[in-house]
Amino acid sequence: MELAGTIRQARKSISAARAAGKRIGLVPTMGALHAGHISLIEEATGRCDYVVVSIFVNPTQFGPSEDFDKYPRDVESDMNICRQSGANLIFSPSASQMYQKENITWVNVDKLTENLCGRFRPGHFRGVTTVCTKLFNIVQPDIAFFGQKDAQQAIVIKRMVADLNMPLQIVVCPTVREPDGLAVSSRNKYLSPEERKDALLLSQSFAECERLVKAGERNCKLLIGSMRKIIAQSSEAQIEYISIVDTETLADIDVIEGEALVALAVKIGSTRLIDNIIISYQPRSARRTRNEI
Ligand code: PAF
Repeated sequence: MELAGTIRQARKSISAARAAGKRIGLVPTMGALHAGHISLIEEATGRCDYVVVSIFVNPTQFGPSEDFDKYPRDVESDMNICRQSGANLIFSPSASQMYQKENITWVNVDKLTENLCGRFRPGHFRGVTTVCTKLFNIVQPDIAFFGQKDAQQAIVIKRMVADLNMPLQIVVCPTVREPDGLAVSSRNKYLSPEERKDALLLSQSFAECERLVKAGERNCKLLIGSMRKIIAQSSEAQIEYISIVDTETLADIDVIEGEALVALAVKIGSTRLIDNIIISYQPRSARRTRNEI
């Protein structure tokens, strides 16, 4: 496995791989790699011949009062994880490599960035889409891999790639969860043991939502209300949003028909966690027909 700290080094190694006819995969990360990233790297090694993992804590996607400075950084552990998961190259540029001068060129996806996290993190998605465009231009991957855990990010990136005719495929991999249901995240490191317990209320609220939908409930206000009740059991939990939205437009919906994305952002103490599931409602008649078949 190689390590490239500059764009020039990365391009040199990647173009040699491309010249050898290899299919290039990119797993963009901000480091502090965990089981979720490992699943992305493994998916990439399964589908591609040469896998690049970028590690860059991107300053432009953090708001002024967010955790850029304290975002977990662990280069040694990241390198071991990449090596063990079969990555071929780590691209780990400095901020001055990625943003050489004052940055005045941005990539912005409208509409899809207005709801959910976009409402609470102004400028966040502009930072993500801009840095991903840079990474796509530097690495020129055939496929880039993202996690479903950041559902809005994945949908926004897919749309950017389609709208700007970028020549790559986006693959979205399932959320990896701890055995007790907590979605794996770099920010879980911030949680105290007490907060870690409270964080389980998030996946419990999804389980309740799924149970109600299975029982025939489709009213989103009611479903969200029951999720709120579960999360409110923790005095440390501050709900930023719980939303049920269309899986393509990310607009709020009132009644579930077919598939919907249930997404939330909740602060446990000072740690902001996000998670989501996709639910689908099938009318009883359809369910019966399927069973009969
Ligand atoms: O999901 C992340 O870790 C980041 O948002 C990404 C895609 C690496 C861009 O900085």
